[in-house]
Amino acid sequence: MNRSFVRRGRMSAAQARFYRDLSGKYCAPFSEGLLSFEALFQNANPVVCEIGFGMGDSTVAIAEANPDKNYLGIEVYKAGIGRLLGELERRDIRNVRVIEHDAVEALRWMVADSSVAGFHIFFPDPWPKRRQHKRRLVRRPFTDMLAHKLTPGGYVFFVTDWDEYGRWALDELSQTEHLHNICEGSGGFAPSQAWKPETKFEARGRAQGRAIREVLFRKGVG
Ligand SMILES: C[S@@+](CC[C@H](N)C(=O)[O-])C[C@H]1O[C@@H](n2cnc3c(N)ncnc32)[C@H](O)[C@@H]1O
Repeated sequence: MNRSFVRRGRMSAAQARFYRDLSGKYCAPFSEGLLSFEALFQNANPVVCEIGFGMGDSTVAIAEANPDKNYLGIEVYKAGIGRLLGELERRDIRNVRVIEHDAVEALRWMVADSSVAGFHIFFPDPWPKRRQHKRRLVRRPFTDMLAHKLTPGGYVFFVTDWDEYGRWALDELSQTEHLHNICEGSGGFAPSQAWKPETKFEARGRAQGRAIREVLFRKGVG
């Protein structure tokens, strides 16, 4: 199977402790059954889903700035999950929940169609070599599934420091039924969205002279 991730390394002692003590509070276990967002978040606010949140820096900043929305993070990286759970607890952030699982499977099984207000996909692994392209997360038919999961008017926001992946994502999303590029700036990329916090991957990309590519598509309401 062409997974979009590799299982990564060890957790620090603190991350392991947060993971052990806080998973029950913030994580929804993977299951082959639909999740009730209202039961999970204890409210009916819109749900934005972040795929591959890494250490959770963007998740924390965005969730804290938008308490009227819920954020569902999906990640397989245990150290990052531990870190995020620790931050949620420390800052008393109540609008984030986590699924520890492959996002492709988690979305397929657990998330209802027409239920997600937005998808955030920030700096996914670029899989730069041609023979690795089939491991890229943002590709059809995965983007078709994203379109089905979105509410009408919902969005997909993809950011990368890998120019070629940015173009690839533009292409794949353009070919996805029901999705429309809403921010066509230069070359089809969106202008920089000021509300997106800068993560280490972004800073490193810039430091190494790479342009940050943002792609913003919306699902038609008709
Ligand atoms: C390069 S990191 C970027 C992390 C973060 N978004 C940021 O900007 O700092 C990509 C992350 O996506 C996660 N990932 C990749 N494919 C995934 C999948 N199918 N399901 C869940 N997480 C995935 C990886 O584990 C990794 O933590």
